[in-house]
Amino acid sequence: MKTDKIRKLFLDYFENKSHKVVPSDSLVSHDPTLLFTSAGMNQFKDKFLGKDLTYTRACSCQKCFRTGDLNNVGKTPRHHTFFEMLGNFSFGDYFKDDAISFAWEFFTKILKIDSNLLWVSVYKDDDEAYEIWNRKIGVPDEKIVRLGPKENFWPSNVQKQGPNGPCGPCSEIFYDQGEKAGCGKPDCKPGCDCDRFLEIWNLVFTQYEREETGELKPLPQKNIDTGLGLERIAAVMQGVESNFEIDIFKPIVAAIKKEANSPACPPRQRENTEQYSCK
Ligand code: GLY
Repeated sequence: MKTDKIRKLFLDYFENKSHKVVPSDSLVSHDPTLLFTSAGMNQFKDKFLGKDLTYTRACSCQKCFRTGDLNNVGKTPRHHTFFEMLGNFSFGDYFKDDAISFAWEFFTKILKIDSNLLWVSVYKDDDEAYEIWNRKIGVPDEKIVRLGPKENFWPSNVQKQGPNGPCGPCSEIFYDQGEKAGCGKPDCKPGCDCDRFLEIWNLVFTQYEREETGELKPLPQKNIDTGLGLERIAAVMQGVESNFEIDIFKPIVAAIKKEANSPACPPRQRENTEQYSCK
């Protein structure tokens, strides 16, 4: 399935669930606290805080740039300088139950991803999200992993590191790329450093505002902020192991290859890994 089709299916799905389709904001942020737009939620910060609720459901495909990812670009098959992030947002409207149900339905019914290949993580204390995944959706216990504030709070480690503003525990959906992509350890699962479990969709339950003191103050309304990496889901749908092999990058790689007059070479996962070597 082509990347353009995935983008359209996502926006159509959420429009049909009464979400306003909002265009991507500028990559150079209007927000004085940000240099670049790094997530779909950036342009909705005021709405998460309960200001300007002219609509309470939105979805977008946001152009993003994450300075924090730069050191990984070229070393992993999934990090980019520039990328597109699909997202659906609720501003005091639906919360965990619907956010999880929508994500699952979109993956398994619209994209028809095999549910056996999907794993999820929840924040370590978030029994509510655990129960929804387990009892309502039917994800078995062994495929639900509880992780800490670095992995399952958004922004990552916000309690300790900031930034101030809307934040909350999150739940991520992972795609199992199979043993050949992994480290081979018997306890390998989401949260492992290897490439087997590809994090594809982050569902953030934005229910706090981090204050200058570091305190997390409950927001008057509960919100949803999700981020689904377009290039990552395209790699899954196109059955390729590297984002750099998806349809939208092929012409760019071909042009660079022509200029460089060298064989195509997807980025290496790590040094000396044959899977990603040029041989
Ligand atoms: N704002 C959610 C994410 O970027 O993962």
